[in-house]
Amino acid sequence: MSLTTINSYSAHHRLNLKLKPILVGELHLARKLEYPVYIFRDGVFVPVINEGTVPSKDQITKLIKNSYKEVFVYESDKEQIKSNLRSALVKITRSISLGDPLENGTKGIKLLTMNLANLYSNPHDNELLTVQFQNSQNLSKFFLENKKILPIIFQNQFKGLSQNNFHFTLSQPMLSSILLLAFLQSSHLFHEKEIENLFLTSYLKDIGYSIIPESKYDLKTLSSKDKDLFANHANFSFDLLEDRIPLAKNYLEIIRNHHFLNDRIKAIALGNRHFANNDEMMMGLESTLVAVFDILVAMISERPYRRALSLYQSLEVIKRMMADEYPQEFKALVVFLKNFFKN
Ligand SMILES: [Fe+2]
Repeated sequence: MSLTTINSYSAHHRLNLKLKPILVGELHLARKLEYPVYIFRDGVFVPVINEGTVPSKDQITKLIKNSYKEVFVYESDKEQIKSNLRSALVKITRSISLGDPLENGTKGIKLLTMNLANLYSNPHDNELLTVQFQNSQNLSKFFLENKKILPIIFQNQFKGLSQNNFHFTLSQPMLSSILLLAFLQSSHLFHEKEIENLFLTSYLKDIGYSIIPESKYDLKTLSSKDKDLFANHANFSFDLLEDRIPLAKNYLEIIRNHHFLNDRIKAIALGNRHFANNDEMMMGLESTLVAVFDILVAMISERPYRRALSLYQSLEVIKRMMADEYPQEFKALVVFLKNFFKN
C-alpha cells in the first residue's frame, strides 16, 4: 500500500476496523513495521509512515510538532510495539540505578505513562496491570533513593503536562504521586514501605478513568449522567484493582475515597456542615494527603475548560480542606512546597 489517502468509503471503513490507536511517542519503540502508520485527519485515515520501515526520529518529531498525539497502526504492529514497551520497561527497571538518575527517572516515567495509556484502553488485561504495578513500585524505590532530583523531575513533567505531551489523565497521577512521596519523605512520619504503598495508592487511584470514554475528558460542559460517570471513577478504580494487585485493603479504601475532600468542600459550599464533618472519623491523615496532592496538582495545572490557579491560591483552598483537622501537617505542607518549588 502506498502513502495515499484512503478515500473510498468501504476501504476506509475496513481500515477503521483494523486500526488501533497508539501514542505518537510509542513509535520510538517500533521496529520494522508490517503496515503503514496512519493519522486521522478531516475524517479520513492518512498514511504517514511507510510499511516495511522503522519510524525515524524526524518522522516522529514532525508528527508531534503538528500536534498529533495519537496515531493508528495495525494490530500486529501494535502488538510488536506493546511487547517492545514491556522489554524497555524491564530493561530500565534493571538498570535504573546505573548512569544518570535524571535521565533514567525521566525515561522510566515516560515508559510507565505509555503503559498506563495501554492499561486505560485494556483495564482488564492482567499483564498490563502487573507490569504497571511492579514498575511503579520500582520507580518509587528509585525516587526515595534519589530525592534530590525530584523537584527537577516534577518541573520537567509539569512542563510536559502544560505542553500536552500526554493527556492530563495520564500525567497527573504521576505528578501528584511524586509530590506526595517527596512530602512524606521530608515529614519523617512514615516508614519507607508505607511511603512506597502510598505512592502506589496515589499513582493507581485514577485507573477507573479507563471506564470513561476519552471523548468526554475535555468537554467544557457535562450532562448529569456524564458527571455521575466522572464522580464514579474512584469506585471504578477500586473495582478494577481489588484482588488484582498486592496492595492492602486500607490502601484500596483510600483509592475508593480519594475524592472525599472535593465532596467535603462541595458540602461546605452548600452549607451542609453536618455532612461535611461526618466523614472525618473514617478519613485519616494518609487519605487526606493522597487527596490533597491530587487536588493541588489539578488546581495548579490548566484544563481545556478552566485556567490554572497559582500555588498560593491553591494553598488557600487546601487550607480550608485540611487545616482544621491537621494544622501541623498543613504548616509542614506549606514549608515543604516552598522548598520544593524554590527554584
Ligand atoms: Fe481521581
